[in-house]
Amino acid sequence: MNVLVAYASAHGSTRSVAENVGRSLSARHQVTTRPVAEIIGLDSYDAIVLGSAVHDGAWLPEAREFVLRTPPPSRSSRRGCSAWGSPACCHARCVVPRAGS
Ligand SMILES: Cc1cc2nc3c(=O)[nH]c(=O)nc-3n(C[C@H](O)[C@H](O)[C@H](O)COP(=O)(O)O)c2cc1C
Repeated sequence: MNVLVAYASAHGSTRSVAENVGRSLSARHQVTTRPVAEIIGLDSYDAIVLGSAVHDGAWLPEAREFVLRTPPPSRSSRRGCSAWGSPACCHARCVVPRAGS
């Protein structure tokens, strides 16, 4: 599978987690690990892993923007999504809730 590990990090620890996730996955998959702000298209990926630092109970703005600008997978798509850092969803029809809300 082609896997994208996308992250938003203010001070580097989320990037470090993302790089470790990417390294682990690369034993079995083709993996690209990249900051969300640098991601343009998702067509070449079969699965997305997304993570963000949490500031004041919310993902960083670039991570929220990435979720909102990412189209929902088509019905026929097998694309999966996994997220860490806060409850989230992989497509724009879902809400990225603030912690505690
Ligand atoms: C300004 C600021 C606000 C934060 N707010 C929260 C928060 O509301 N909840 C939380 O669990 N962690 C909070 N944290 C901790 C960060 O989410 C945590 O340190 C994270 O790993 C930082 O990731 P980064 O190094 O990739 O930026 C905050 C950190 C900073 C600097």
